[in-house]
Amino acid sequence: MSERFYLTTPIYYPSDHLHIGHAYTTTVADSLARWHRFAGRDVYFVTGSDEHGQKIQRAALAKGVSPQAYVDEIVASFKGLWEKMNIEYDDFVRTTDDRHHRAVQAVFQKIYDQGDIYKSSYEGWYCTPCETFWVESRLEDGHCPDCKRPVELVEEESYFFRLSKYAPRLLEYIEEHPEFIQPETRRNEMVNFIKSGLEDLCVSRTTFDWGIPVPIDEKHVVYVWFDALTNYLTALGYPEQGELMEKWWPADLHLVGKEIMRFHTIIWPIMLMALDLPLPKTVFGHGWLLFDSDKMSKSKGNVVDPLVLIAEFGVDPIRYFLMREVSFGQDGNFSRKALIERTNADLANDLGNLLNRTLSMLDRYFSGIVPEPAASPNAIDQALIDHANSLGDAVDASLRQYKLNDALVKIWQLIGRANKYVDERAPWNLAKLDDKSELASVMYNLVETLRIVALTIKPFLPETGEKMWQQLGLTDLAAKSLSDVKWGLLPAGTKTAKGDPMFPRIEVEKEEPAKETQKKAEAKKPAAPVQEKPEGVVIGIEDFLKCELVVAEIMEADPIKGADKLLKLQVDIGSEKRQIVAGIAQHYAPSDLVGRRIIVVKNLKPAKLRGELSEGMLLAATSPEGTLELVSVSQAIPAGSRVK
Ligand code: MSP
Repeated sequence: MSERFYLTTPIYYPSDHLHIGHAYTTTVADSLARWHRFAGRDVYFVTGSDEHGQKIQRAALAKGVSPQAYVDEIVASFKGLWEKMNIEYDDFVRTTDDRHHRAVQAVFQKIYDQGDIYKSSYEGWYCTPCETFWVESRLEDGHCPDCKRPVELVEEESYFFRLSKYAPRLLEYIEEHPEFIQPETRRNEMVNFIKSGLEDLCVSRTTFDWGIPVPIDEKHVVYVWFDALTNYLTALGYPEQGELMEKWWPADLHLVGKEIMRFHTIIWPIMLMALDLPLPKTVFGHGWLLFDSDKMSKSKGNVVDPLVLIAEFGVDPIRYFLMREVSFGQDGNFSRKALIERTNADLANDLGNLLNRTLSMLDRYFSGIVPEPAASPNAIDQALIDHANSLGDAVDASLRQYKLNDALVKIWQLIGRANKYVDERAPWNLAKLDDKSELASVMYNLVETLRIVALTIKPFLPETGEKMWQQLGLTDLAAKSLSDVKWGLLPAGTKTAKGDPMFPRIEVEKEEPAKETQKKAEAKKPAAPVQEKPEGVVIGIEDFLKCELVVAEIMEADPIKGADKLLKLQVDIGSEKRQIVAGIAQHYAPSDLVGRRIIVVKNLKPAKLRGELSEGMLLAATSPEGTLELVSVSQAIPAGSRVK
């Protein structure tokens, strides 16, 4: 029987529309689910909406609609967002579903019947935005220690759940199961919280009615967290002990944000202990996605709407950014600038160029048809082959430890390796040889690497994986699995179909965030007219002599922050030192340039590029594959020598 994997996201409050922080958890869950399916595991992936409680009731009231009408509209937008983001869940639990109503009442009744729920009265503090009860000693200056907002004094008759009774058993369980709470820092926080003393939990409310009635006392509605946590069982048909419960419980992974770890690692396991059900294998508490280092929240006005981003950049750049930029478990920053830079560097340059240049060369040398790899591999080929062959297992190992960004780094290391391979094996030189067998092997190796990249990328970036597959001329992607991430399965004779670049570069000047007013103003300036490059025009010698070409020695070379194509060079042109800004950063490392003697146009009108003065222009030639070489002279020619 294949290994099974049941994973869940939190069920989101439809008190408002979702922002990019919510999309973060769900994107991670979806990629994990897709990966495990791809690895041949049996996967069940559940998400949903947490629709009851005081917060929702108040929001509906403020809008003048019924709570049900209010949540129906917002939940529809959740589903629309997940569809747009290519989230493939197996079930969506709404806490207003009848099946959930039944599950919650059954849970409450069972725990009540065995004496772990009792009636008393509550007098204490309540944070409505977090739907959390607080004892006075945990408040911070009279505010909620989690969201820092004011709390309200609540006095009402309530049912209580005997959390305190189960605390020793829970501590023991946590100690014996180090994989239960991850990452480790969160485990320590939770252990300290439990050790500082657990109060019995209030599990019913009477001052509003938007909730599931307590089965033994209809004046009360079930506390919204007790209600919400049960969704993980609702999806399996609880209270029926049917096939679903048998097959999927206990869950393998509850993915949650760090602020709701307490509910998932204290209240939820104690509910399960009281129900005599096994505990989930892992609750992983990830960090927050911050906006300019601050938590996103509607009241701060810094929420980022994923739909707006998708409309502008497409889905996969967003999915990629969320998983690549943030080390899973820790907080990470979202900014438009970082999103654009990531997209340009990793998707447009590294991945997009590899696909494009490979398929262009294949078109040129083999009419787009994958050749037989005729020559036996040399050491460089073998290194690429070994790297590609080990990728599937390496990514699987990272994902089993929930290290999503590590997994992507591993894929991009192979992409980087393949780009370097193009330069090292220089197919354009091999194409000049009469014997084309080595060229055939090199081209095969490149397309085969791309096939392996497409397969491993697809669970993270479904659209990109599919587009690559299509351009590679391959079929039947849906039927492929981790066992296909193995070198040599690409059939020779495959007819590729090079398409448009998958990720056109985003011009940063036009895409600065609204906040950065100066750059925005710059972006509004009319673009400089594109210089025509006339070809076939005959000029006289007097025209050529107007152009003062001299030998220059590069003294220093430095990157320019925020401009990944440009380098800033300090050059000696004999008579003086000059600064030249050149678009060569993707072809030369600064350290490789110092000491070179190059040719520059000395009498070109100075210009400013990215705020840096450029006093001249260097000469370079570009190969059909897009590699660039500086026009240079040997050390025998001193700086300042005229070129004519
Ligand atoms: N309804 C509860 C969860 C009940 S689960 C049984 C809830 N809902 S929520 O709508 O507030 O969503 C909380 C979850 O959204 C977080 O735990 C986290 O997974 C995700 N995020 C919300 N904002 C986030 C960020 N800024 N960054 C990362 N994740 C964030 O709590």
